[in-house]
Amino acid sequence: MYVLGIDTSCDDTSAAVVRDGHAVLSNVVHSQVSLHHPHGGVVPELASREHIKNILPVVKEALARARIAPHDLDGLAVTVGPGLIGSLLVGLYYTKALSYVTGLPYVAINHLEGHILSIFLEDNPPPFPFVCLTVSGGHTSLYHVLDFGSYRLLGQTLDDAAGEAFDKVAKLLGLGYPGGPVLDNMAKQGDPSKIAFPRAYLSKDSLDFSFSGLKTAVALFIKKWQSAGGATTPDITVNDLAASFQESVIDILIHKAMKAQEITGTTRICIAGGVACNSRLRAKFLQEATKRGISVMWPRPEYCTDNGAMIAVAGYHRLLKGERADYTIDVRSRYPIDEVVTERS
Ligand code: KG4
Ligand code: ZN
Repeated sequence: MYVLGIDTSCDDTSAAVVRDGHAVLSNVVHSQVSLHHPHGGVVPELASREHIKNILPVVKEALARARIAPHDLDGLAVTVGPGLIGSLLVGLYYTKALSYVTGLPYVAINHLEGHILSIFLEDNPPPFPFVCLTVSGGHTSLYHVLDFGSYRLLGQTLDDAAGEAFDKVAKLLGLGYPGGPVLDNMAKQGDPSKIAFPRAYLSKDSLDFSFSGLKTAVALFIKKWQSAGGATTPDITVNDLAASFQESVIDILIHKAMKAQEITGTTRICIAGGVACNSRLRAKFLQEATKRGISVMWPRPEYCTDNGAMIAVAGYHRLLKGERADYTIDVRSRYPIDEVVTERS
């Protein structure tokens, strides 16, 4: 079954053709990073206008690279939330029109389900059940993944997402958007134990996250550090700052993921979302997992950040079950995964 997956939830226009929920025939992503970089974050109005310009060329490119014509597809899958309303609307209405003219069925996908299932784009995906830590610019959540379409939320952020914290700290340092990859690189030259930033573990058994205290602590530190000379201060470099901040985030993420592993009794953890690209997070996760005799997996970087292929995977399993969306479906800025409704034809 050939599925075209489309995602325009935030600042990337993405389309992909995936066969049988696994084999990627094409995965095209038009990034808007250079557009938003000077603003230190995504500007929603600019993002939706850019999606309008790019959606058709991106889909055409995805079909061309896959060497497939629209009538050779078996179905369409599109993200309807959570995300930026103006951005989501572009993908959804494009897909509705394509479905109308081709007669192809389409399904409405929760973006988080796409991230959770992105590991199925790799060879040897884990058997169910497993724990998935979804860490991106908009989300930080832990799920017990029981089956395709069956996800139990174990914990989530009470305030900022992990990627958002990276982006905000980078903005404070004038490093532009997105902050994650830049700070990840800088941290390689820094000392993670140089500054003892707080780690919010919340209550003993809580699987929730909170990054706002850390963000405030880093903001206060940067202010003091800059007035004392900033990058010219002899004992604390900007790389130390990046490494110390990053270490706090990573320690919290790993601590909570391991707690989820203990509670569920699973021996498998997946990491998904843009922050799963972080090199230090991957190294420390692997170290901790090896110590505990469990396995930890993540998809390759292009399947961690937003992409249409993961939406096609989620779409494939829903189409297979006979699910079909109708033309009255709307987008949703907030869309908890336990509210995902399965429609049957
Ligand atoms: O999954 P994604 O592409 O979009 C959302 O659904 O939000 O994630 C983007 C986020 C950004 O906040 C970005 O700073 C972060 O992922 N990110 C990273 C790294 N690469 C991307 N954060 C830390 N380290 C990285 N290497
Ligand atoms: Zn995402």
